[in-house]
Amino acid sequence: MDPFSTLIRTASHEQHMEAETSTFMSDLLGGRLGVDAYARYTEQLWFVYEALEADAGTLAADPVAGPFIQPGLLRRAALERDLTHLRGAWWRSTLTALPATEEYAARVARCAREWPGGYVAHHYTRYLGDLSGGQIIRDKAERTWGFARKGDGVRFYVFEDIANPAAFKRGYRELLDAVPVDDLERQRIIAECKRAFALNTAVFGALDEEFRLSA
Ligand code: HEM
Repeated sequence: MDPFSTLIRTASHEQHMEAETSTFMSDLLGGRLGVDAYARYTEQLWFVYEALEADAGTLAADPVAGPFIQPGLLRRAALERDLTHLRGAWWRSTLTALPATEEYAARVARCAREWPGGYVAHHYTRYLGDLSGGQIIRDKAERTWGFARKGDGVRFYVFEDIANPAAFKRGYRELLDAVPVDDLERQRIIAECKRAFALNTAVFGALDEEFRLSA
């Protein structure tokens, strides 16, 4: 049987394409939306990473989720710097989650509390994506809205502590392959990964509605 890292990647391939080519992402990366849409998207990410990272300390001791918890991945502080740049020092006072974001963050928080395998699915979907396609998004954002290269506004996409992302991703896949669960639980994790992609796509759909370009 294929290694787990291959199975999870293959199983989410189609949904990955869907997320990548969603109207909101295409418009954002195509330079057709203003910086306000980018800021609103960044705000939504804050809720997701708050849910992913709030219980990281506890999860670090878990045999299944623990190996994935690595300080170099943590994104919340970087998001907060970006939001300060994008929205100003009082960014928290106007921060709101879209209903789709609330649903996504609630699901992550629930997995973090109750189901380490499900948490791994969400961890994979976000962090490995940020390390991969995130770099394309950063490049486009810098060019489109004039952020300093790897500076305020795009710090979320900059992993200061990960010098070699390709090597890091190889190590991450080894962790996935070694996750200490049986085949049935692996299937459940894959299903949760698909759910994670669907939750992301729903957020894009909501953002598209908010920022839809007039025809
Ligand atoms: C325009 C948006 C996006 C672009 C351009 C993009 C692009 C990419 C690229 C180039 C890779 C590298 C594939 C490889 O390592 O060979 C990748 C991997 C990945 N992306 Fe995306 N992506 C986007 C959106 C997303 C979204 C929204 C998610 C989910 C939240 C996501 C999750 C992932 C994951 C989990 C991987 C790792 C796959 C693996 O190697 O197991 N991506 N993406």
